Amino acid sequence: MSKYVMALDAGTTSNRCILFNKKGEICSVTQREFTQHFPKPGWVEHDADEIWASMLGVAVEAMNIIGAEPSDIAAIGITNQRETTIVWDKNTGDPICHAIVWQCRRTAEFCDSLKEKGLTEKFRQKTGLVLDAYFSGTKIRWILDNVPKARERAERGELLFGTVETWLIWKLTKGAVHVTDYSNASRTMLFNINTLDWDDEILEELQIPRCMLPTPKPSSCIYGETDPSVLGGAIPIAGAAGDQQSALFGQTCFKPGDAKNTYGTGCFLLMNTGEKPVFSNNGLVTTIAWGLDGKVTYALEGSIFVAGAAIQWLRDELRLIDSADDCEYMAKKVKNTNGCYVVPAFTGLGAPYWDQYARGTIVGLTRGVNKYHIIRATLESLAYQAYDVLTAMKADSDINLASLKVDGGASANNFLMQTQADLINAPVHRPVCVETTAMGAAYLAGLAVGYWNSLEEIKENWAIDQIFEPSIDPEVREKKLKGWHKAVKYSFDWAKE
Ligand code: G3P
Repeated sequence: MSKYVMALDAGTTSNRCILFNKKGEICSVTQREFTQHFPKPGWVEHDADEIWASMLGVAVEAMNIIGAEPSDIAAIGITNQRETTIVWDKNTGDPICHAIVWQCRRTAEFCDSLKEKGLTEKFRQKTGLVLDAYFSGTKIRWILDNVPKARERAERGELLFGTVETWLIWKLTKGAVHVTDYSNASRTMLFNINTLDWDDEILEELQIPRCMLPTPKPSSCIYGETDPSVLGGAIPIAGAAGDQQSALFGQTCFKPGDAKNTYGTGCFLLMNTGEKPVFSNNGLVTTIAWGLDGKVTYALEGSIFVAGAAIQWLRDELRLIDSADDCEYMAKKVKNTNGCYVVPAFTGLGAPYWDQYARGTIVGLTRGVNKYHIIRATLESLAYQAYDVLTAMKADSDINLASLKVDGGASANNFLMQTQADLINAPVHRPVCVETTAMGAAYLAGLAVGYWNSLEEIKENWAIDQIFEPSIDPEVREKKLKGWHKAVKYSFDWAKE
């Protein structure tokens, strides 16, 4: 019997590999950051070859640390930053340009033109999404329109498109397998989440040839095996899910009404809504959570573009902290933010506002505001944004959350978790293992090959680390929220010409 399941977690700023055992314990973990390219304000790119090289590097390293052989690995599960768009040459495997990252705003005006054509409702009903530059569809269109000869080559069947999991599976199988899973497909704005197929009417509208698209598959199934030259043996690749859906699975949110919030580069709050899509009237998107055992589970999602990235901004651009871990200590050096609010709308605002032209804003500055207040206000902004999304979710689903499960890097920050509980006025539950994103992919892969046999077995691996109970004076909460909502408005439309 193989000892481990390998999770490859392709994030926005780094790639990680984790080997899990049957109890869901981490046996080996490796991580490498990769380059972020910002060619113009609001544009974000990655080098797909660098993503592949660094992912291969962390996988080999994770195996070496514990002396694992390919035969020790029952299956590989992949989870990834979603929407990021890669187009490559089918024959050479060379990307034809940099990957356009989910955060990139370059297609905002094109999205406006689709809205002006009155297509908002059509896209929402078919794809569950709002018309926003965030999703892959308009990014593919941009590549076909702007990279020399791309459109002709795509029409001749020479180019392939993929989100990051598709690219990694293609590389791991040395070009033998071109697939995506339903959860990732549902982020492209080309996938009909009701029929589970690419939507011809949308492909026609965006002028994207179907032949460049991967085959959509469930999230837990054997897609193929690694080519032996890659990791030294043939390992089944048996799970794939977008990182946020994967975290929902890793948090064992298997029942309708179960919800989690992941504090990564962005912040993504997802609620399982069961086997039927629930369409939002309050600025959320409808997404496929996973396809498993012949069934599809849907989720409502509130996508917040900037969370951990705001902490990186404090560290790398403002240089107010030396490391992300310093944030909590620094924020607690002051009792409050001294009336200051930071709205980290660096790449526009996602849910529930969906303003492509919003930009970062600091308001309420007075002579007494110091760096600690700004650090604290930045941290609090993560919790305010999650509050807004949760309010929308309550309105859409009629479910009043009894508690919120959290994970992701910044969930280790006790100050932030307490603030979150205070603002949403509900307990926040942090599990022992906050690597739930990687865990979800491992579970999906392990289920497909019989390493784990049931959802019940997986549920037993979930354990609580800490519960944060709300403890704020209700009047203070109201006042803080009022200030936040006033601050958010100042960020609206800033980048609109
Ligand atoms: O939709 C974008 C999301 O998948 C990015 O996740 O973990 O890199 O913040 P993360």
